[in-house]
Amino acid sequence: MKHHEEKITQAALIIKKAHRMTAASGAGISAESGIPTFRDPGGIWDHMDMLEVGTASGFVNAIERNAETLFPLFINILDAFQYAEPNPGHMALSDMEKMGILKTIITQNVDNLHQEAGNTNVVEVHGNVFRSRCINCSHRVTVDRKIYIRELKEKIDRLMSFNLENLLSLVMICDKCGSMMRPDVVMFGEQVHDLQNAFEAARNCDVMIILGTSGVVYPAAYFPVEAKQNGAKIIVINPTVNAFVRESDIYIPMKTGEALPAILNLIRN
Ligand code: OAD
Ligand code: ZN
Repeated sequence: MKHHEEKITQAALIIKKAHRMTAASGAGISAESGIPTFRDPGGIWDHMDMLEVGTASGFVNAIERNAETLFPLFINILDAFQYAEPNPGHMALSDMEKMGILKTIITQNVDNLHQEAGNTNVVEVHGNVFRSRCINCSHRVTVDRKIYIRELKEKIDRLMSFNLENLLSLVMICDKCGSMMRPDVVMFGEQVHDLQNAFEAARNCDVMIILGTSGVVYPAAYFPVEAKQNGAKIIVINPTVNAFVRESDIYIPMKTGEALPAILNLIRN
């Protein structure tokens, strides 16, 4: 970390003066909680074809053709989601909100970890996997992460084989209209959630801190551009060069779970 100390100090000076900071986070902030990212080596899109399983109809088709291969991959992801806890990066953001500096987190993550860390204003542009939505009447139900996955895994254990029919037997049924429910997440080709609030938080911030995202998925990749055009300072934390480095005033090539607590420490002292 030593050689990035100067950048950490510069970032802390900027953040300390901020009154309405917005954070924009992606899968990288949850990597240290054990949740795989999408595009890093060994990431989710290394194991599954994004174009095959990334859309709702593609997902169903892929299960129909290839359930025996895909099910074990989903169970690995379920395990990661079940055992994850907010990491020091999430916790530092929660403290920055309590200090009155951080106002909004725009996240592409669906893992609920920002809320579990204590952040109260989280704009989830890609939804939340622990919320189900009725495919008929849009009724939404929020589930407890650990209980939901434990029960789901118990049901999976009782399945005799992996096939589409058995997969469909696992889905929740809407208590308003009796139709099937699906995870309330955005798949490719679907409308992003809460876009207006996200753009507002980007437009109105004095600092945008961009955390653990490759910046290749739109419209999420526009938020930093919107922030910069409206005069915000841009800080990027990500161990790997990404689409936002060019826009940044400060680029810290570190893990968020290390850089954010170091910044917080300086802000406090
Ligand atoms: P990606 O997998 O594209 O990018 C993850 C980023 O996190 C990379 O730039 C890594 O360098 C960085 N990273 C890895 N470990 C890190 C750490 N410990 N600290 C900080 N950064 C770290 O994930 P996203 O940018 O979130 O969309 O992907 C965007 C969207 O693409 C996802 O929301 C998903 C996916 O397809 C949908 O599901 C709609
Ligand atoms: Zn319904």
